[in-house]
Amino acid sequence: MRTQVAIIGGGPAGLLLSQLLHLEGIDNVVLERRSRAYVEGRIRAGVLEPGTVELLTRAGVAERMRREALYHDGIHLAFDGRSTRIDFKALTGTGVTVYGQTSITEDLNEARTAAIGKLVFEAEDVALHDFNGPHPSVTYRRDGVTHELACDFIAGCDGSHGVSRASVPERAIRIFEREVPFGWLGVLSETPPVADELIYAHHERGFALCSMRSKTRSRYYVQCPLTDSLEAWPDARFWDELKRRIPKEDGARLITGPSVEKSIAPLRSFVAEPMQFERLFLAGDAAHIVPPTGAKGLNLACADAGALAAAFAAHYRGDDSGLDTYSERCLKRVWRAVRFSWWYTALTHRFDDDPFGARLQQAEFEMIATSRAAATTLAENYVGIFPGAA
Ligand code: FAD
Ligand code: PHB
Repeated sequence: MRTQVAIIGGGPAGLLLSQLLHLEGIDNVVLERRSRAYVEGRIRAGVLEPGTVELLTRAGVAERMRREALYHDGIHLAFDGRSTRIDFKALTGTGVTVYGQTSITEDLNEARTAAIGKLVFEAEDVALHDFNGPHPSVTYRRDGVTHELACDFIAGCDGSHGVSRASVPERAIRIFEREVPFGWLGVLSETPPVADELIYAHHERGFALCSMRSKTRSRYYVQCPLTDSLEAWPDARFWDELKRRIPKEDGARLITGPSVEKSIAPLRSFVAEPMQFERLFLAGDAAHIVPPTGAKGLNLACADAGALAAAFAAHYRGDDSGLDTYSERCLKRVWRAVRFSWWYTALTHRFDDDPFGARLQQAEFEMIATSRAAATTLAENYVGIFPGAA
């Protein structure tokens, strides 16, 4: 088998890249290790920057999103029970779109499945070959049969634990990493959201976030120790803890119900540089991870896919400048998002045994609540206005 671009990983980065390349007339095949049902069942991100919405629109997969998504002009930031609204629309001229990653994946899968044979699920033992020369290839196993896919380029879109980055020799890659000493316990429930917009709450018992997927589905998170197991968090304990951490008036309105999904996610910052190794290009979580507080991971994955699709399209028209600068351009945006996600996590979470840090958090919250300049900086970063970045 032969294709122009072999894409490893069928998450948002891989699927969006595949669809954008398809629209440019560039042949590509996506190799995904898991089943379609598994990939579509993973509950993850929910907040889209305007640039991501624009990309999905350009990719021709925005029809359902236009019908079902919610548009938010701002967020509520609560600090020890006191709440301030950050009005994105007034401060930046734009807002964010709330639409689940699961729905985006479904929409993209739907579009790509129409192209028969271009989306391979349950591809086992994917291995990358010869990407440092002119004839790269990828091998994989499906139903016990080994296949070889010859290609011009490989796009590594296989998330943080994938095979692509791991195939690069250690000496060719530099890793920047910072661990966060706690996790997020997330719950999805078939209940109306507690508020019309997201609530990010700092509390002495720990951070809490009230998000949503629709007017009838809520997504809530509480900061928890990384050592906690799901058994330690029956629904009743989760709702009780969430209620304590958000402002009283919100807690009084909170409608609870059985959880339909519950999971614990670790938080960390991670960047691999560069994002290109000869004919292998990394995109999305394969190259970088941010704590979810800033809602940036999915948006970065889509931005990488958009930049890479445009660079491949230019290459096939005879212009390699996009491919040559891909890594450098993406890393600018990545580091802006890494900085924001780190800062926002440090502002809103509880850190043990750090009374000095707690006072700094309080002072910073006061500044955001009273200074238009400080609120604007938060708003610009949240909606993804990164001047100077790709
Ligand atoms: P993935 O979604 O991880 O996709 C990679 C794919 O590659 C997977 O389908 C995987 O099965 C496949 N794969 C892995 N290894 C192999 C292999 N060897 N061979 C073949 N296939 C392989 N981001 C936001 O922007 N906003 C948010 O609000 C937000 N909230 C989040 C909340 C939580 C709780 C979590 C955990 C994350 C959140 N994120 C958010 C981050 C976001 O979900 C990720 O950044 C996004 O999924 C990255 O997409 P990706 O395609 O790069 O990687
Ligand atoms: C979500 O809805 O899952 C979500 C929203 C905002 C975040 C993180 C996750 O910052």
